[in-house]
Amino acid sequence: MRIPENKIEEIRNLANIVDVISTYVHLKKQGKTYAGLCPFHNDKNPSLKVSEEKQIYKCFVCNAGGNVFNFLMQYKSISFIEAVQEVAEHLGVKLELEKGSSSIVNSELEELYDVNVTAAKYFSNNLLNSRQGEIAREYFKKRNIKTQTQKMFGLGYAFSEWEHFLHYAEEKNVNLAKAMQLGLIDKRNDGSYYDKYRGRIIFPIFSPNGRIIGFGGRILNNAEKAAKYLNSPESPVYLKRKTLYGLFHSKDEIRKLNKAILVEGYMDLIALFQNGVKNVVASSGTSLTEEQIKLLSRFTKNIVVIYDADSAGQHAAMRSIELLLKEDFEVRIVALPEGEDPDSFINQYGKKDFDELVKQADNFLEYQMRIYQQEGKLDSPESQAEVVRELVKSVALIEDELKRNLMIKSISKKFDLREVLVESELDKLLNKKDSQKKRYAGQNPEAPIPHEAEKIKTITRIEAKFEEEIIRLLFEGVEEIQDLIFDNIMPDDLHNPDYRKLSEIALENYRNDIVSPSGIIEKIEDDNLRNIALSLTLNDISISAKHGEEITSAEVTKKNALRYASDVIKKFRITKINEEIENNKIKIKNSETDDNVLELLRLNKELEEEKKAIREENILINEIE
Ligand code: GTP
Ligand code: MN
Repeated sequence: MRIPENKIEEIRNLANIVDVISTYVHLKKQGKTYAGLCPFHNDKNPSLKVSEEKQIYKCFVCNAGGNVFNFLMQYKSISFIEAVQEVAEHLGVKLELEKGSSSIVNSELEELYDVNVTAAKYFSNNLLNSRQGEIAREYFKKRNIKTQTQKMFGLGYAFSEWEHFLHYAEEKNVNLAKAMQLGLIDKRNDGSYYDKYRGRIIFPIFSPNGRIIGFGGRILNNAEKAAKYLNSPESPVYLKRKTLYGLFHSKDEIRKLNKAILVEGYMDLIALFQNGVKNVVASSGTSLTEEQIKLLSRFTKNIVVIYDADSAGQHAAMRSIELLLKEDFEVRIVALPEGEDPDSFINQYGKKDFDELVKQADNFLEYQMRIYQQEGKLDSPESQAEVVRELVKSVALIEDELKRNLMIKSISKKFDLREVLVESELDKLLNKKDSQKKRYAGQNPEAPIPHEAEKIKTITRIEAKFEEEIIRLLFEGVEEIQDLIFDNIMPDDLHNPDYRKLSEIALENYRNDIVSPSGIIEKIEDDNLRNIALSLTLNDISISAKHGEEITSAEVTKKNALRYASDVIKKFRITKINEEIENNKIKIKNSETDDNVLELLRLNKELEEEKKAIREENILINEIE
């Protein structure tokens, strides 16, 4: 299914984001924007900002943000298409779905989904209704999984024969090449096909929207020599790094409780769910990825990690903690008794004890300290120092300063160190992080004499402010401003890689006649970039073209907007020329041949003239004056 691009634009332009969000969140007008309690995190103060003028929203705490479609996608956990349909329905706009060539990509995906559905039905029927399925039904009985649970998770069974599914698929006219792409069958050397899943319990893997994207298959008997689990390969519908097992079933509960429990295995998730612990997701064996964390952050930022007590589990937990802290999660860790996993624990002790375990989960510092202690790293002063450094490293990943300080306090207390000592360790790490962030991609690599270098840096700093302002102007939604910018500045002229990318996206949309901020933002796929654009656009503070003193954009009245933009552009161009001139001066100082010096002097003279020309240039359009 596909909705034509111009239709999407029409709906986007007709919709009013304030009306839509108001249906779910109480919004209050505050100056030019609306504010409300953010529904995507546990909000105490209204941190959700909605701009009617720009038709975008952003939470300044949890960084949720986008246009009207993004809001619905995030709020209701629906797909883009579904969000467009919902807004269209609300507006009474009729949607005709596009047919023909442009929907090829989509129908190809649909075909893959269809093959998976056929297979899932087949496996499920084997388990629930076939005579041969008895052995699998026995297995689940032994493991305490009720029939109702088997149905809910679409569990199944693959017979031990080599071509049973193959024949079924042929009968159902399944495209065999597609079935092979999905890892359901494989080809022998002689070109004949055979079933990949044989004699295995089947766990269908769902997308967050409930589509079947892959399968996990477990051997029935641990003594078998084959790998315990066989999982579908990566495919256009199954992107492993972006998949969390169980999320489709648990997302509502996760949002409701504003907390997710992360386990390792399929069976862990299903056992917990059946016992009433329904806010669970499973990483299914792979180590947790950044993409999985981003996906989960649509539902909550609070996570309790429960991995096996063995050293592989501990190792995985340590790694996950870092990733989760980086994504601003509140992380806690449960240590299970030796030899247990969540499945065995809840079956043995029940929900009450399990809830208690979760309640008493360690925060990440406590957990890390305990692991280090077990490893004997707290025994000597040398290794203790090493441990403190490691702990502070984790703390440095936290963005929230208040939280960081509390953690530092607790480390100092635990190790009986003066707080300033631990703080200075943290500062070292933070400064490093900061300078890494600020380092500019395009800066002159020929490092000049120190005090001259300082000069260039300050120029670059002003330039950076102008770059930021240019991006802000690009997201003003005024076509004439974009004309002006793209007449004079190309994405390549910008140093900051994020801004360069954003202006590339804006330029591409500009060429397609999309200039509204909500339209451009929809096309930004990278979360980080989208966030930058939203922040700049929703921020009322903008620099004046005069040396970075701050004024509010309200003062930049619409009438002056173009004049202001042209001023920024001019100053940006001049700043760039200044930078070049300074660079040349340094080269002149370091130059060994006179020829070279003369050439550089001539160049600088030309640049000075160009600067003068820009100053006199009247790039303001007559119409507005
Ligand atoms: P049970 O042993 O039936 O309780 O399953 P489990 O889910 O508890 O398995 P385990 O703790 O051994 O492994 C956790 C997860 O890692 C599983 O759910 C699988 O997703 C994955 N996994 C385990 N073994 C294999 C394997 O041999 N191959 C692959 N690809 N994944 C595996
Ligand atoms: Mn297990």
